[in-house]
Amino acid sequence: MGREDVFCVIGAGRIGLPISISLTNRGQRVVILERDEERCRMINNSESPFFEKGMQEGIERAIKNNHLTATSDSSRIMECNIIISAIGTGVSEDGTPDINDIESLVSLISPHLSIGDSLILKTTLPIGTTRKIAEDLSAASQLELDEELLVAFSPERIVEGRAMEELRRLPKIIGGIGPNSTKRVSEIMKIFGGENIVVSNSRTAEMCKLLDNAYRMTRFGFSADVASVAWRNGIDAFEAIEASNRDYERNNIPLPSVGVSGYCLTKDPYYLDAGAKELWISRGFPSTWINARHAADWQINEAIERISEELPSGGAESKIVVAGVTYKEDVDDIRMSHGVEIGEKLIERGYQVNWWDPVTSMDEILGLTVSDGPECLAGSDLLVITVPHLEFVKWSETAKELETMRTKIIFDGWGVFNNFDRDGVRYIGTGRN
Ligand SMILES: NC(=O)c1ccc[n+]([C@@H]2O[C@H](COP(=O)([O-])OP(=O)(O)OC[C@H]3O[C@@H](n4cnc5c(N)ncnc54)[C@H](O)[C@@H]3O)[C@@H](O)[C@H]2O)c1
Repeated sequence: MGREDVFCVIGAGRIGLPISISLTNRGQRVVILERDEERCRMINNSESPFFEKGMQEGIERAIKNNHLTATSDSSRIMECNIIISAIGTGVSEDGTPDINDIESLVSLISPHLSIGDSLILKTTLPIGTTRKIAEDLSAASQLELDEELLVAFSPERIVEGRAMEELRRLPKIIGGIGPNSTKRVSEIMKIFGGENIVVSNSRTAEMCKLLDNAYRMTRFGFSADVASVAWRNGIDAFEAIEASNRDYERNNIPLPSVGVSGYCLTKDPYYLDAGAKELWISRGFPSTWINARHAADWQINEAIERISEELPSGGAESKIVVAGVTYKEDVDDIRMSHGVEIGEKLIERGYQVNWWDPVTSMDEILGLTVSDGPECLAGSDLLVITVPHLEFVKWSETAKELETMRTKIIFDGWGVFNNFDRDGVRYIGTGRN
């Protein structure tokens, strides 16, 4: 890597910011291009806009050393020769990938490109998008692809909560739009650490990313439907799965849960699905991973039905505490959270809902206060646990505040309680009677 390299990371989100700090931690200079001006202000004031282990210290160090600046001014791309896209993409109501934001990259960056610049796409993309963006950029900038402009897809596979450590350690898959792009981006990716895995082209690299989450989704969907079978047959799904897995190396069945949510697991299966849309229509049944997606979502309905059976009176007299508003444990991110969806559905049914979440930085959701401790259980009728925050697991060992509930019912959506056995408390859960 040359001393003169300057990175432009577009998007200071859950992916772009850890990438930027990993680079500055290794002495690189980074300009963050972020459209949210408040986020830019925070970063330039050495404040992390969200919690990620190691991030706050990294930002402080980078700003102090003059290695990091955040801006909403796209002309500053001109100062940079390596551009990394970490902006988000979405999915529309009918499951079609919504890639408007990433397509707008072309008009955003093309006026500021120079000969020899590299673009690394980290944003998760439907198959074929990297090549399309590369061709559009080449047309708009008049730079020859794979000679004057180098473009590759290198998926980001880190998880929130372990982002900094995983950026150092995980292998980096790289697929360029030509050999020069692959070679240059492979050199760049060595900065982060971890092995490089070079694949034949950008389409293959795009598919690798989608396989990660579609495969995980498929396994979780399997367990979701197992939970439904278990419940209807008076079986504890946790007991059955644990017994099947134990000392039997061909099984690795995940335990079921009330929801599989978050930004990536809800979107990426649809991106893989888009790769053969006509096939699913013509053969008359969906891809395995889209079925799994629906199966996982179905557990939310099952939970609502079972809660309604327990508290049939409904209405404002029934108070329910929804424990967990983040999409997964110990992470401060409520995007696409199943906990929030469960609360919303309970409110629609007329229940009085209180949130309990020790991890989120939100004070209020849907106009209702978020409590950070179990005191909110006082006078309530039912506790729904939606994620296994470490604090919930620790609390479950004594769970003293259960005594303060008016009606003592637990719907344990994640098997947080181990072998629940307490007089006077009704205990049910996902896959549990
Ligand atoms: N969050 C994860 O755990 C995770 C893991 C692996 C991969 N990914 C993928 O990484 C990508 C980014 O995800 P994220 O969670 O960081 O998203 P995010 O929404 O947290 O961050 C995206 C950021 O980009 C900014 N942005 C969007 N368009 C912009 C533009 N035109 N100019 C400047 N800034 C712009 C947004 O304001 C936002 O701050 C997605 O494709 C996602 O699928 C995410």
